[in-house]
Amino acid sequence: MVYTPQNILITGGCGFIGSNFIRYLLGNYNQITVVNVDKLTYAGNILSLKDISERYENRYFFYKEDITNSDSIFKIMERHNIDTIVNFAAESHVDRSILNPEIFLTTNTLGTLRLLEVARNFWGNDNNVRFHHISTDEVYGSLKDHGKFLESSCYKPSSPYSASKAGADHFVYSYYKTFNLPVTITNSSNNYGPYQFPEKLIPLTIINCLNHKNIPIYGKGENIRNWLFVEDHCEGIDLVIRRGKVGESYNIASNDELKNINLVRRICKILDEIKPSKKVKSYSELISFVEDRPGHDYRYALSFDKVKKLGWTPKTSMKKGLQKTVLWYVENENWWKSILNQEYIEFYKKWYGGKNQGE
Ligand code: NAD
Ligand code: DAU
Repeated sequence: MVYTPQNILITGGCGFIGSNFIRYLLGNYNQITVVNVDKLTYAGNILSLKDISERYENRYFFYKEDITNSDSIFKIMERHNIDTIVNFAAESHVDRSILNPEIFLTTNTLGTLRLLEVARNFWGNDNNVRFHHISTDEVYGSLKDHGKFLESSCYKPSSPYSASKAGADHFVYSYYKTFNLPVTITNSSNNYGPYQFPEKLIPLTIINCLNHKNIPIYGKGENIRNWLFVEDHCEGIDLVIRRGKVGESYNIASNDELKNINLVRRICKILDEIKPSKKVKSYSELISFVEDRPGHDYRYALSFDKVKKLGWTPKTSMKKGLQKTVLWYVENENWWKSILNQEYIEFYKKWYGGKNQGE
């Protein structure tokens, strides 16, 4: 059975993956309508979809709204006759969850529960609808050097962020079991690409290089992440919504595993070639080892055989994806310069206890 979404409510569509997903949907399907509900927190950027709102004014609608505000979400669903919800909205940064865990519980867990309840009330017993929830590999916890997590692996979250996401996943599944709500979940690995907020390792490295600031590496830089180009992730999400089995979760990842230090060196090398510095011989001179993140998971890796069986596989090599990403940040200074505001500075002051990044 193939499910065909028509009127899609995207939550968190002004964030990194959500905005890429909206771009993907409107660029690939002529028939669908996209309704974007975003609270516009520090991480939401209306600029990320400026061109989209102009190009698709009859098929793209934006509401500045909080997903915990059930009455407003219900009204939006009624107004647009929503048949599909894709829930990206979240507090997404692990470091911020260490400084301020409560908002993670509120948005990620309670927000998801409230959306589920609105969906259940709005859709009743209609089966030709879908609630798709976006989750993360971090819910499974940390791996040693070998092995990969399966969809059936136990949840063992380490950070307040991953704990709040794990709670949300459980609520989503419970609404399927208890109320028959047609749900699907995807758990993906670390994404990278255009429009990512420069608090995450890849854009932070690029921007610090361009600003000649230190590049902070936690601990010895030995931690390993599995990197997925955001457009590949979008394709995978779309496929799971259309072809995934209701009540199931699917891992989405790539085979590109890298130690943080090696990833950062690669970025420096690309920048040395495309935008050589006038101040340093190589940007890698800016690398600075700093105190480790508390509870830092050593390694994430996902088996994605299940989604492969639906017909998805990552298309973008790390080499190509990283080159594209670095180039995007070099060419889109306006986008990221607007983010380096007071809130951004305050966060780093707090995180580094009054010191500068990498000091
Ligand atoms: P992001 O931080 O870039 O964007 C989050 C968006 O959600 C922002 O636009 C923000 O304004 C919005 N938002 C936050 N709280 C809200 C609320 N209460 N109501 C409405 N909108 C709200 O995040 P991202 O990196 O794009 O991640 C999107 C989703 O994917 C998250 O659920 C995250 O857990 C998950 N995920 C991310 C990655 C990754 O590598 N970035 C990997 C796996 C899963
Ligand atoms: O694995 C999926 C997850 O990936 C998503 O669920 C999260 O939303 C997303 O933020 C990301 O979490 P990470 O903690 O892995 O991403 P981050 O970019 O913060 O860090 C990547 C690695 O780099 C991690 O091992 C910590 C390290 N790091 C990070 C920062 C910000 C540094 O060494 N220095 C830094 O300054």
